[in-house]
Amino acid sequence: MRIICVAGARPNYMKIKPVMDALEARGAETVLVHTGQHYDPAMNDVFFRDLGLRPPDHLLGVGSGSHATQTGRVMAAFEPLVEELAPDLVVVVGDVNSTLACALVTAKAGPLLAHVEAGLRSRDWSMPEEVNRVATDRISDYLLAPSEDAAENLRAEGYHDDQVDVVGNVMIDTLFANLDRARESGTLSELGLSQGEYGLVTLHRQANVDEPDVLAGLLKGLGEVAAHCPLVLPVHPRAAEKIDALGVPGGIRLVPPAGYLDFIALQAGARVVLTDSGGVQEETTALGVPCVTLRDNTERPITVEQGTNVLAGRDPERIVATALRLLASPPPPRRPELWDGHAGERIARVLLEGGTAGSRPRPT
Ligand code: UD1
Ligand code: UDP
Repeated sequence: MRIICVAGARPNYMKIKPVMDALEARGAETVLVHTGQHYDPAMNDVFFRDLGLRPPDHLLGVGSGSHATQTGRVMAAFEPLVEELAPDLVVVVGDVNSTLACALVTAKAGPLLAHVEAGLRSRDWSMPEEVNRVATDRISDYLLAPSEDAAENLRAEGYHDDQVDVVGNVMIDTLFANLDRARESGTLSELGLSQGEYGLVTLHRQANVDEPDVLAGLLKGLGEVAAHCPLVLPVHPRAAEKIDALGVPGGIRLVPPAGYLDFIALQAGARVVLTDSGGVQEETTALGVPCVTLRDNTERPITVEQGTNVLAGRDPERIVATALRLLASPPPPRRPELWDGHAGERIARVLLEGGTAGSRPRPT
C-alpha cells in the first residue's frame, strides 16, 4: 500500500512522524511530501534533525503568501504529484493551509483521505484554522480523532460512529518518545535559566499578532507577569517585526524560535507557560505544567477540563490575574485518556486493517 504523508509547517512534523513510523512498521510504503509552507531552518530543518524524520521525498517549496495564494500554490504543486505517485491513501495532519490544500486535491483525485486530529472545533470562524479543520473533515474518508470530545463534535455535525475513530493524540506520542532526550538539552543552562524559576511564552496566532493594539495589550499583560516571574519568549517569525516595533517590557527575554528538543525542555522546566499555540496547550497538559492560553476560545477544551490549561483571553488584567493564580496554586497534573504514546500505532491499525471508517462521510 502506498501512502502519501503530508507535512508543511512547524506543528506538522511532530504529528506525522509517529504515523509514518507505525505505517512503515506494518510494511506500508510511505512517501513524505513537504509543502514548504514553513522553510526557515529554525521552523523546519531543526525538526527533521531533532525528530529523526527523514528528508522529504518531495518538497513543493510553496513558501509564504496570503491564504488564497498559499493554499492555491500547494494545490497546484500537489495535484501532479498525486497523479504521478498514484497513492492508495493520503494522510494529512492538523489544521494549517497545507492540510486543507492537500485534502482538497486528494478528495478530487481519487485516493482515500485520512485526517489526523479530526473533530477539533473552536467554533470561531474568524480563525483560518477553523475553516481548514471543518472543511478537511468534511471531505475525509478517515476521521481520526484525538479524544472522545472531538468525536462528539463530529457526531453533532452528522457523522456516524462508524466514520470516526478515536485514536489518541499523536503529538503526545512524539513528546513521550523524546522527553528523555529533551531533558538532556543544554538550553536551560545556555539561557541562564533554572528549572521552575521562569515562565515560557509563545505568540503567533493571526488574531493576536497582526493587530498592533491586541499585541500591545498582550505584551503589557506579559510585562506585568514578568514582574513576578521572568519570561522567555522564542519569537515566531510572524511576530518578530511586530514585537520589535512595539518594544518589549522588561523581564521578557526574546530568543529565536527553539528547536523541538530545546522547546520541550523549556516547557518541562517552566513554572508557567503562556501561549496562543494549539499544540503547546496539549504538551503542557501532558507535562503537568500550568498553561495560560492567550485566546478567548480553544479547539482543545479537553486541556481545560482534564488538564492544566486555563483560557485567559487577551485582556491584560485577566492574563495577569490568571497567571498569578496559577503561579500561586498550580492545577494538579491530569492526562486525558489515550494520550499514552500509542496513537500512531492505533492510526496504522485503522488505516491498514480497515478500522471502522472507509466511506466518504455524508452527514444525513
Ligand atoms: C501557520 C498556521 C498556523 C500554525 C502555525 C504554526 C495556517 C493558516 N496557519 O501560521 O495554524 O499555528 O503555522 O507555527 O496555515 N514566516 C517566515 N518563515 C517561515 C515561515 C513563515 O518568515 O519559515 C513568516 C512569513 O512572513 C509568513 C508568516 O510568517 O508570511 C506567516 O506564515 P504562515 O505559514 O502563513 O502562517 P503562520 O503564522 O506561520
Ligand atoms: N515549538 C517548538 N519551538 C518553538 C515553539 C513551538 O519546537 O519555539 C513546538 C511545540 O513544542 C509544539 C509545536 O511546535 O510541538 C507547536 O507548533 P506551533 O505552536 O507553531 O503551532 P500550533 O500548534 O499552534 O498550530
